Amino acid sequence: MLTPSREAISHAAALLRAGQLVAFPTETVYGLGGDATNDRAVADIFAAKGRPQFNPLIAHVPGLGEAEKFAVFGPLALRAAARFWPGPLTLVLPRRYDCSISLLVSAGLDTVAVRAPAHPVAQALLRETGRPIAAPSANRSGRVSPTTAAHVAEELGANVAVILDDGPTPIGLESTVLDFSAEAPALLRPGAITLEQLTELLGSVSLTAPNRVMSPGMQASHYAPALPMRLAATEARPGEALLAFGPCAPAGFAEVAWLSRAGDLTEAAANLFAMLRLLDQPRFTGIAVMPIPEHGLGHAINDRLRRAAAPRGAGDHGALRGE
Ligand code: TXA
Ligand code: MG
Repeated sequence: MLTPSREAISHAAALLRAGQLVAFPTETVYGLGGDATNDRAVADIFAAKGRPQFNPLIAHVPGLGEAEKFAVFGPLALRAAARFWPGPLTLVLPRRYDCSISLLVSAGLDTVAVRAPAHPVAQALLRETGRPIAAPSANRSGRVSPTTAAHVAEELGANVAVILDDGPTPIGLESTVLDFSAEAPALLRPGAITLEQLTELLGSVSLTAPNRVMSPGMQASHYAPALPMRLAATEARPGEALLAFGPCAPAGFAEVAWLSRAGDLTEAAANLFAMLRLLDQPRFTGIAVMPIPEHGLGHAINDRLRRAAAPRGAGDHGALRGE
């Protein structure tokens, strides 16, 4: 674990260019980074996460100029990048014919997901590396995304050359994934940039993925803790822990973690994954979650919670779960 000084970032960039994996902070969650143009490094990412190989990764770039070397931007995609980059928005676009990003990043699709993160450490690392960095969230497959360097060390410490530790990530929820490979833009994963913001900028945004099979991130039980989850809970059941939202929580829970006492959705998003981890302990019988309003960031929070609560087993092969 290294504090991201100039020297630490140069060191990490050299490791990335040499094909090693580096975990780094972004404004959303920590990423498990590898040189996106190096097939071997990308394969190592999948191996480290225990993630199925057909689940495509995001290629991180410093900005639009670099992204245009790899992906084909139409007018709406350009507008989205101009407005929200650098920031927590991922664009799924057709690969350019001369795209040097590993096909493994695209998991065999003819599209590539690109994002310019706003976090200063991510920006410095990208510029210093001089190559696109493929980075999924730095958690093991099926676990929730890491919002601190300690989460990364716990699950992937043995698999990374360096973890750049810059404290908790400010947003705490993954980027919004928007697909521009079909006629109309389609929201593949709600996230930090809200549907309201996108609709205002782009006109209509479809909520149906062009091809569900092609976006494994939509897998229902994607962000599942080990304990059973119960949503919109208004009263306690024996032995349950509670994820609370707003000033008043029902009594009788074995433990309470407050997403936001003030009922602030931004604060709740930042706390979500760390608190799910905190409560995911065998001494509880389950995790109950109070109702979260379905607007703004609440849309993304509820999406993650529904996935975490999705029934496991039937039709959900272990190998497909989580990323
Ligand atoms: O905030 C974030 O996006 C974080 C930080 C590290 O940047 N990264 C992240 O990556 O969440 P990951 O791999 O955990 O999630 C990437 C999502 C998945 O849902 C994946 O299916 C989708 O993006 N995706 C990537 N490439 C795609 C493509 N070509 N077509 C459709 N979906 C794609
Ligand atoms: Mg992930």
